[in-house]
Amino acid sequence: MIKEMYTFEDFLRQPIGDRLPYYEKDERLYHIMISQQFSYPFLEKLFDTADLIKYITRKPNGIEFLTSLLKHKRAMLYFTQPSTRTFLSFLSACQIVGIHTGEVRDPTLSSEMKGESQEDGLRTFSSYFDLIIMRDSKAGFCEYMSYLLDLTGRSVPIINGGSGKDQHPTQALLDVYTLHRSFQERGGIPGKVYGFVGDLLRGRAVRSVIYLLTRYSNLEMFMIAPPRLQIAPDLEAHLKDHGVKVHKTDNLEEALPHVDSLYMTRVQDEYDLSGESEILDYSKFHLTIENINLMKDDAIVLHPLPRRHEIDPRLDSDPRAMYWRQLRNGMYIRAALLLYLFNMEHRLVDY
Ligand code: NCD
Repeated sequence: MIKEMYTFEDFLRQPIGDRLPYYEKDERLYHIMISQQFSYPFLEKLFDTADLIKYITRKPNGIEFLTSLLKHKRAMLYFTQPSTRTFLSFLSACQIVGIHTGEVRDPTLSSEMKGESQEDGLRTFSSYFDLIIMRDSKAGFCEYMSYLLDLTGRSVPIINGGSGKDQHPTQALLDVYTLHRSFQERGGIPGKVYGFVGDLLRGRAVRSVIYLLTRYSNLEMFMIAPPRLQIAPDLEAHLKDHGVKVHKTDNLEEALPHVDSLYMTRVQDEYDLSGESEILDYSKFHLTIENINLMKDDAIVLHPLPRRHEIDPRLDSDPRAMYWRQLRNGMYIRAALLLYLFNMEHRLVDY
């Protein structure tokens, strides 16, 4: 039970370990905020649920069965930062399990234009809806909102669909789910070599998936980025604490032959303060029709999307390209998460 009232800044100053209990209720995850919340058993169970959902949606009566599970629930999609995939993926996931949805994407059409605070907006949503899925440009803001909502006594779960440069936990779930499926026949996620390329400093997707991967053992990682976009110190310390063997480099071609998985990202120049990304030669961090040949035949290529020029579109038909499948996996894992949040995943066996 939270009794004290913090400001946003005070709230963020608390160590992560102290904040995590706020996001749980009755020994289950309640708010979905950061990757560090997900335990290994939680992941395994969620992946099984997503596999089942995927299987059940193959038959029309399966689709009908799934939509009956949460048709008594409503979710609010509050996405004030640009989004194509995450928004639509959550919308589709809600549709799969029967949840009704409402949305605000353009705050100029809401009472924020009349000077209403986002805090009051969120409180309004929680009066109408059973779940809030949100994206915001401020790091840590979703976490703060969940904390404030808990104080009101009319709390509903919040899912962080991207919080500034900080985290994107459900993207991490879909990324790790894709790795789990891809390496299923090859000993799984442990013991593999993972490459991450691009804006590792400001990319919340890549940051969240790296955090999440440390739930697995015996990992080696290549962090391939221009020096000024290398991983943040907190993430580096976390990798060290978890015994991950890390190589930081700006040479993509040297790293390519070693990796089993390559996670590509775009420059997050929306966070530039004064056009600093413009002077970067980012072409050294592109996967091309030539340099992909340096990769192992059974390696895989991931990208959270959207892409700019990091991956030549001609590579989309290469068997190693996994990013379109990754996108679809996102819909199933998010549907699994929705069932989990409303404690309904056990109902799948009824089908
Ligand atoms: C990512 C994001 O928004 O952080 N996109 C996504 O959600 N699939 C990655 C990005 O925008 O580069």
